[in-house]
Amino acid sequence: MKIGIVGGTGDIGEGMALRLSPNYDVIVGSREETKAIATCDLCRASLEERDLACSLLGVTNQRAVDEADVVVLAIPFKHVAPTLKALTGFEEKIVISPVNPIERTTYFYYAPPPEGSAAMMIRGMLPPGTVVCAAFNNVAANRWQMLDEALDYSVAVCCDDEGAKRTVMELVNSVSSLRAYDAGPLRAASLVESVTPLLLNIARFNKLRDVGLKFV
Ligand SMILES: NC(=O)c1ccc[n+]([C@@H]2O[C@H](COP(=O)([O-])OP(=O)(O)OC[C@H]3O[C@@H](n4cnc5c(N)ncnc54)[C@H](OP(=O)(O)O)[C@@H]3O)[C@@H](O)[C@H]2O)c1
Repeated sequence: MKIGIVGGTGDIGEGMALRLSPNYDVIVGSREETKAIATCDLCRASLEERDLACSLLGVTNQRAVDEADVVVLAIPFKHVAPTLKALTGFEEKIVISPVNPIERTTYFYYAPPPEGSAAMMIRGMLPPGTVVCAAFNNVAANRWQMLDEALDYSVAVCCDDEGAKRTVMELVNSVSSLRAYDAGPLRAASLVESVTPLLLNIARFNKLRDVGLKFV
């Protein structure tokens, strides 16, 4: 399975490339191909240091969409709409949204679009044949990048297509100690996205790092 990461040069994108590329063909996308190539070079060096083989390709965001079976939208919420308007070729693909619409004053709070969540907004912007899944919303980028430490969190997955949900849950379960949980239809993604500002506030006000979720 080929995983394309739009915005794969960012914090989450790079972390996902590091953790997924030993098991999947990972296509790192960027607005600038040279930036995507540089991210792949860094990831490859880090993995080779640990004797891990990987499959990584650095390309433009459009090529990452074109060549992937599953596309991760690893970009900040405010850039999602213009980015999606500029990209084509999502038909028949699974699109994973880890996107959290969050604002900050003296604390972090959930600021969803009129559609109710980032995931539902993304669903509305993509062609009918595309399946959108919300996943990975609550796992901190730093943890993805700490390759020598287990990623021991629960991941809530919301999706309206049972087959695509299974595929995404298998992808989640293939990464370190992540464990996927079915969190219902895509409309329930607002619940998952809105947990992230809570985690950020708990981290900030209690001087903790990378607070995460574990359902036991
Ligand atoms: N960071 C976390 O711990 C975390 C955890 C869970 C979920 N998330 C979610 O994951 C998503 C990515 O977060 P992140 O922290 O990885 O973001 P980020 O590092 O700030 O940005 C990711 C990438 O977005 C691209 N980008 C920046 N400005 C852009 C623009 N104007 N138009 C199009 N693309 C632009 C950049 O790629 P290029 O310059 O290469 O194009 C950048 O590398 C967010 O929606 C966030 O809510 C983040």
